[in-house]
Amino acid sequence: MKYFIVTYGCQMNVHESEKIAGILENLGYTACDKREDADIIVFNTCAIREGAEDRVFGNVGNLKRLKKKNKNLIIAVLGCMTQKEQTAQKLMNTFPFVDIVLGTFNLSRLGFFIEAVKKGRQLEILEEGDIDEMLPYKRTSGENAWVNIMQGCNNFCTYCIVPYVKGREKSRQESNILQEIKELIAEGKYKKITLLGQNVNSYGKDLNPQVSFATLLHDICKLDGDFTLSFMTSHPKDLTDDVIDAIASEDKIEKFIHLPAQSGNNRILKLMNRKYTREKYLEIIDKIREKIPNCRITSDFIVGFPTETEEEFEDTYELVKRVRYDSIFAFMYSPREGTIASKMEGQIPEEIKHKRVNKLLALEKKLQKEDNKR
Ligand code: 5AD
Ligand code: SF4
Repeated sequence: MKYFIVTYGCQMNVHESEKIAGILENLGYTACDKREDADIIVFNTCAIREGAEDRVFGNVGNLKRLKKKNKNLIIAVLGCMTQKEQTAQKLMNTFPFVDIVLGTFNLSRLGFFIEAVKKGRQLEILEEGDIDEMLPYKRTSGENAWVNIMQGCNNFCTYCIVPYVKGREKSRQESNILQEIKELIAEGKYKKITLLGQNVNSYGKDLNPQVSFATLLHDICKLDGDFTLSFMTSHPKDLTDDVIDAIASEDKIEKFIHLPAQSGNNRILKLMNRKYTREKYLEIIDKIREKIPNCRITSDFIVGFPTETEEEFEDTYELVKRVRYDSIFAFMYSPREGTIASKMEGQIPEEIKHKRVNKLLALEKKLQKEDNKR
């Protein structure tokens, strides 16, 4: 019995697929390299932008011929995209050969649904769920081990679908995280531990008693062993001094921060509900540069947010120039159904978004070239 997993989206999803692989291996499946050889194909989907969803529809559609050849092939679609009722229904209706569609809160019961397929197609979307503390993982990222510390997001940036598909922030118990990392170190093959969460800086606020993210970092660094520690993603509004100090003072922590700015313009930042200003963001950057001289800094930007003017885009452009990031991701704003920004007037035409994203990426290329020369 063989499995093949197709993963879309962020590192958290890559790690989630390691969990899916763990579940499947516990059921007796082994991995294979080609979908043609698989007895079960699992799509772990992403909903962050429309393009990601379009690709899933295209690639799932292509499986029709495989299902024709192998009637027993099980096709499952999971992840952020299927947490949306309408999209899940559309998948079921468009592709009668899809057997299982599950939202984000019932992944741990995949085994149950695979068994249930004998009785018919399975669709289940739950509104909320507890964080999975311990599940079998089949790790696939070489010397790096991903460790999930929290799930969900409470920020409701107005463009973002994540809070709707991943629910509210839930942190794992610190003792369980430390235990998992101890076991990883004991295995001896991991040189790097990367902590994952949508918003790692608010780790532990929902625990009783509360644990701060900086405390978690220090406690992990106290563990014996030869490893580097990294984490993502940080939100500028929550990146506290004690976290910057932890990065600066702990030898084990990689001198690297991914700190998405999204925009360099205050009016747009406010419309995005990011809860910081351009000035505040630059203050944090200056603080990082002062306390951690060789810190690599990267960022995400969205261009063409509703009502963004050319001048406001220029503010983003100037911010990128001023900060001189080690690298950036630039995205064209993609309206996500159900979010506040998708209902805003003044949506920006695609060709303007294209122009702006290309201009930003050209700047990034130019700056990188100069830095490399230096
Ligand atoms: N459109 C475009 N980009 C988006 N991101 C999140 N939501 C959207 C959207 N609706 C980007 C942000 C985030 C990254 C993971 O994806 O920049 O930091
Ligand atoms: Fe989305 Fe904002 Fe949460 Fe990041 S912080 S996942 S952009 S809502």
